[in-house]
Parts: sequence; C-alpha cells; structure tokens
Amino acid sequence: MRAMTTKKRTAILISGRGSNMQALAAAACTADYPAKIVLVISNRPDAAGLQWAKANGLATLVIDHKAHASRPAFEGALQQALDAAKVELIALAGFMRLMTPAFVEHWRDRMINIHPSLLPSFKGLHTHERALEAGVRIAGCTVHFVRTETDTGPIIAQAAVPVLSSDTATTLAARVLEAEHRIYPIALMLVASGRARCEGEKVIISERVTDLGSLFSPGV
Ligand code: GRF
Repeated sequence: MRAMTTKKRTAILISGRGSNMQALAAAACTADYPAKIVLVISNRPDAAGLQWAKANGLATLVIDHKAHASRPAFEGALQQALDAAKVELIALAGFMRLMTPAFVEHWRDRMINIHPSLLPSFKGLHTHERALEAGVRIAGCTVHFVRTETDTGPIIAQAAVPVLSSDTATTLAARVLEAEHRIYPIALMLVASGRARCEGEKVIISERVTDLGSLFSPGV
C-alpha cells in the first residue's frame, strides 16, 4: 500500500441528484484514497443528493442562495462554512451557481469541476443536445481546475465515449455519466495526492494512472 500522508479535507458542492458526489464519496471510503469528504454543501434545500449524503453518514449543509441578497453574500456564507470545516479542496459536482472572480481566485488550483463534454467543446448547458446537433462521433467528459470563465481551466482528466446513430440526448447523457463516475474519483485522487499540478494553464501529471483504454468511433 502507498505510504499515506494526511488526507486532503474535501468539500463537495451540489445542486441536484449528486451521482458524481456518490462516486467521489465511494472512492474516498478506500483506505489509501488521498481525500476525505468532510462536507457536502447544497445551494438547494431540495437537492436529492442531500438525502443520499445524510443516509451515508456525510456531513451536509444547505446554504440556500435565495436566502442571500447577493452573490458575494451567498459566497461569504459558503466561505465561512468551508473555513469552519477546514476544507482544503472543493469538488463541484453538478453545482449550478456561477462564482464571483474573488471566490474563484481564492480557491485557485484548489477547486475542481466536472463537465459533461470534451472541453473546450460544448461549454455551458445542454451539452448532449448540442453534441448531437453538431454530429460529433465522440463525446465525453472533462475534469478541470476552475477559472473565472465558466467551463474553462486547466484540464486534469478526460474520457471519451462513442456517439451512436440511435442516440438521443438521454442515452448519450447516460453513457457520458458512466464515464464521469470513472474519471472524477481518479482526478480528485491525482489532485489530492499532488500528482496533478498546474504549470501555467496546463496540468502536469507526475505519475501514470490506471489505463482506462482508448476509443475509436464510429461505433454502430
Ligand atoms: C453531471 O453531468 C456533471 O457533469 C454536470 O452536472 C451533472 C451533475 O450530475 N456538471 P450529478 O448531480 O452528479 O448526478
């Protein structure tokens, strides 16, 4: 087993279903995983992921953006909670709030996000609809460090999946989501262990990780 230094105290921020949160939390249960999930925060009281987090013994907190007069006020409450839990890393997992440049800069190279496309293609919402509309043969997902411009930032990991002729946005989303659940735990592991670090605006990986295989498309 790899010699273990202190696990990085990690918060996961969600707004909804939380399936990526579940993938991260499951990975973090293994003894030699370098991150510990110390807090799950949702900006929506009704986020389904909160129930799962509670049922699985994770500390949860709702910070409702609607209860705050401004974005900085909301982020102030967020920052207070993160400080109180001594959080070192943030993993955004379907967190649907834009952050101010001040917050993003404060967490520079310590906040990561997962996006359901092969960035820099298809930033923003409705990625699968737009991928199908564009007729791409390969879709996928990206884990990246967060920068002020939405869905940009140094790329830590990507996985590709084929786009099939029969795909709808729903079937493509499901295939991409499976890939998300595979790469997000690997990306957080790389960041938390210090094996992925930013050099300029690119990420250097210092040690080989599990080979997830290569992909050729069209598939049928
Ligand atoms: C995922 O597709 C993620 O890439 C995007 O939002 C979705 C969240 O899904 N940012 P879940 O809440 O993790 O199930």
